[in-house]
Amino acid sequence: MRILEVAGDIPLDSWMEKPFETALAYIQGVNVGQNTEGGTKIDLEGAAKKLFVNGEKIYNCEVFCVSCHQTNGKGLSTSQLPPLAKSPWVNSI
Ligand code: HEC
Repeated sequence: MRILEVAGDIPLDSWMEKPFETALAYIQGVNVGQNTEGGTKIDLEGAAKKLFVNGEKIYNCEVFCVSCHQTNGKGLSTSQLPPLAKSPWVNSI
């Protein structure tokens, strides 16, 4: 969006940096800090790669997994949202 491009070129006061980052992410339809280039670097091929890419899309949909378990899979322990990284549930599949 043009107005955000222009605003992004102007130095921001420190209190504006986080709200600007949040507004930019919201307009791009991603979560704050999420990779907008799309995709994690993986070393998979064929069906396994396709499965991973589809799973990543589902995980990152707003209000699906990412909103609670976070982009890094570490959850938010202060809100009782558990990490998936190193979870036996995830690793046993
Ligand atoms: C509204 C928040 C929320 C969302 C959205 C959510 N989860 Fe969870 N998830 C939790 C909570 C809270 C627990 C812990 C439940 C418990 O211990 O009874 C949990 C537990 C888990 C666990 C078990 C972790 C362990 O080691 O015990 C897995 C696996 C998991 N979620 C996967 C997912 C996946 C995959 C998605 C998306 C399809 C998802 N969750 C979406 C909140 C959420």
